[in-house]
Amino acid sequence: MNTEDALRQRRSVRAFLNKNVEPEKIKAILAAASHTPSGANMQPWQVAVVTGSSKQKLQSKIEDSFRSEESRKGDFQYYPLTWKHPYKRRRVNCGRQMYNALDIQRKEKQRRFEQWTANYRSFDAPVMLLFFLDSTMQTGAFLDCGMFLQSIMLSAMEYGLSTCTQASLSEFPEIIKENLGYPQDSTLVCGMALGYEDTSAAINSYRTPREEVESFTRFYA
Ligand SMILES: Cc1cc2nc3c(=O)[nH]c(=O)nc-3n(C[C@H](O)[C@H](O)[C@H](O)COP(=O)(O)O)c2cc1C
Repeated sequence: MNTEDALRQRRSVRAFLNKNVEPEKIKAILAAASHTPSGANMQPWQVAVVTGSSKQKLQSKIEDSFRSEESRKGDFQYYPLTWKHPYKRRRVNCGRQMYNALDIQRKEKQRRFEQWTANYRSFDAPVMLLFFLDSTMQTGAFLDCGMFLQSIMLSAMEYGLSTCTQASLSEFPEIIKENLGYPQDSTLVCGMALGYEDTSAAINSYRTPREEVESFTRFYA
């Protein structure tokens, strides 16, 4: 697959087959992604690959915490505190596309809630990836980490695997670090679901739109 095709074909997948991912494939994906550039070649990313009973144990703690509505706070603020257009419009459209695909109406609060909760099980993908940064890292390391995420997503396609990056998992830094033995002063950046796509699932049936280049670019000559 050439780079352009990979960039255009990648999309977030939120329903997976009940089929384990071969450990050597996960390692090959991470090895390819390790070639991601980073400032001063710091390679600041740290990854936890969580599968099997470790995943079951961790996700049930996260889901329980979410359902009990315990207060939670991520290690950093990802989304804007004030949503303005056009970002707000895009966010609303993003949710609308997903719930439309599932035929979930606005008033069906419980169905919406259950669909959102699937985030905390990484949509039942066989693999949950979690990304951390050392406490000494500053904002720049998020650039490196973001590129690393994209590298993983593109590399996964080469192995017939699909992904969904998940900011939602970063809402539970304490539980996740305690369970996986990462220092509490490290930064939990986000998670990612990894597995074989369930191509028959309605939630995987839509594609998100993109803006025209002219709308976000100024050309100077
Ligand atoms: C950093 C990051 C965090 C995200 N967090 C979530 C999430 O918590 N739950 C979710 O369902 N999708 C999440 N997404 C997926 C986005 O909704 C998705 O990338 C966007 O709508 C564009 O769609 P596409 O990935 O299919 O091209 C996240 C994506 C990124 C890059």
